[in-house]
Amino acid sequence: MADGFASVAERAAFIAGLPKAELHLHIEGSLEPELMFELARRNAIPIPFASVEEVRAAYAFSNLQDFLDIYYQGMSVLVTEQDFHDLTAAYLARAHADNVRHVEIFFDPQGHTQRGVAFDTVIAGITRALSEARERHGLTSKLILCFLRHLSEAEAEATLDAALPWLDRIDGVGLDSSEVGHPPSKFERVFARARGLGLKLVAHAGEEGPPAYVVEALDLLKVDRIDHGNRSLEDPALVRRLADAGLCLTVCPLSNLKLCVVDDIAAHPLRTMLDAGLAATVNSDDPSYFGGYVNANYQAVADALDLSRAELVTLARNSFTGSFLEDGERDRHLAAIDAYA
Ligand code: ADE
Ligand code: ZN
Repeated sequence: MADGFASVAERAAFIAGLPKAELHLHIEGSLEPELMFELARRNAIPIPFASVEEVRAAYAFSNLQDFLDIYYQGMSVLVTEQDFHDLTAAYLARAHADNVRHVEIFFDPQGHTQRGVAFDTVIAGITRALSEARERHGLTSKLILCFLRHLSEAEAEATLDAALPWLDRIDGVGLDSSEVGHPPSKFERVFARARGLGLKLVAHAGEEGPPAYVVEALDLLKVDRIDHGNRSLEDPALVRRLADAGLCLTVCPLSNLKLCVVDDIAAHPLRTMLDAGLAATVNSDDPSYFGGYVNANYQAVADALDLSRAELVTLARNSFTGSFLEDGERDRHLAAIDAYA
């Protein structure tokens, strides 16, 4: 065992108690099959599964697109403000149970407006649950609107227009969905407008796409964080640039395994990233589809790579230093990690 842990169980307990932030979580990807069935019944939406077990069995993916096809189909049961509230409340309860103290949540409004669900319905439900979690658990949050990159930039612009009345509740914009063939450059203008509105900027890059997409996200979109970023490791100059800038990477180990970004969790590049000085964090991405929430992600990668106490503390610290929390709040969480460790 790595430094100081007498057993795997002791390390698991250390992970469970570690104060953490989660920075890469698609709220629609936290839709558990049980809730999917309940909402399908509530809204009389047909779903092509006979049981929860059948849904889980369908979650076998060979790449990102395989997953996205089923992910967009799954979200069709989300219709009312209450549905979005219940989805978000269920995730926040799981995060709280994992000792997650702060979350930065993605949502995909175009996945809903394209089906005739109003933008306002989506955001009202999500933000009501976020406010409740803050009151009940002291769990703080930021909300990040993602543009679907397989759609046009004009559609992203229309989505940003729909968000304008809600800017007091939206902290940033992101870029997700099918990466290859949809480079960051396609969204340069809408990201510039979001930047002008004072929003934080993130983008999925280097999950399946080449390191050049990470460079575009930095140079053209001027992002504050990179979501995933795994393939940055193929470009040593890019690795040096990311390390020198202290730019946070929101890494998702179980997602990478389920989407075949890595063949084996033991081959996950998380330690390589840390050794290269990259500000990597551990996140769950779409926990219902990939088999685990934040602690399960820490656990899987810690066991496979035999991560040390110091490495786990670094990952948790990175989750707060890479967050969009105000300085005082961030420092308070870092002090709590230091006290724990
Ligand atoms: N949307 C939800 N999860 C995603 C992922 N891992 N990559 C790209 N788009 C996504
Ligand atoms: Zn993601």
